[in-house]
Amino acid sequence: MSDTLKRAAAERAAQLVTDGMRLGLGTGSTAAHFVAAIGERVRGGLKVVGVPTSEATRDQAQREGIPLTTLDETPDLDLTVDGADELDDDLRLIKGGGGALLREKIVASASQRMIVIADGSKRVQKLGRFPLPVEVMPFGLTATERAIARLLDSLSMTGELRLRRAADGAPYVTDGGHFILDAHLGRIDKPNVLASTLNNIPGVVEHGLFLGLATGAILATADGLVELGQ
Ligand code: A5P
Repeated sequence: MSDTLKRAAAERAAQLVTDGMRLGLGTGSTAAHFVAAIGERVRGGLKVVGVPTSEATRDQAQREGIPLTTLDETPDLDLTVDGADELDDDLRLIKGGGGALLREKIVASASQRMIVIADGSKRVQKLGRFPLPVEVMPFGLTATERAIARLLDSLSMTGELRLRRAADGAPYVTDGGHFILDAHLGRIDKPNVLASTLNNIPGVVEHGLFLGLATGAILATADGLVELGQ
């Protein structure tokens, strides 16, 4: 069911793509449906270029025959379509469950529009039930972790920081060669404060709060598609 909903949201987003668009291609199981839908349209004659947000998406887009570019060649994108782990009614997001948050945020920031595609279960009243991914440098991991813990404490937030691990038990390594600490916070009352203060900690590369980036969302529910923003 959930996969059918993800595909429905992705296919609706694919209809918004027109000839000549420069696209940011998101990462994750929902974004993969979008990449597949764009691949099908490209094989039917659609002319677009895409910037993938992960090596996994690059591999898929290449298999689909979607022409790829880089942000160095094409620094201004028209539209990024990506999934999310949580979104609220102000289109604030938690992303990074799939580990691609850094490139996802760079690509979304370079885009005029960012549309989130998701099944309706990702919509929340308040962000934070999904653990917030914080991408960190491997160098100084313990010191960075302690600095994040002190920050959370100063913001009266409680929650555990867990180093993300791969299936073999080794630390999970992002496409950028970094580690991820997942912050199990339960709720985030002041996302703006948390976002800006996390970015001030040396060793923190990026975090999964996407604030002011999404311009629209397409949510698929059992009762049909819900579209927010544009
Ligand atoms: C990848 O790093 C994430 O930000 C994904 O976009 C997010 O986790 C949503 O993934 P799914 O579409 O697989 O739920």
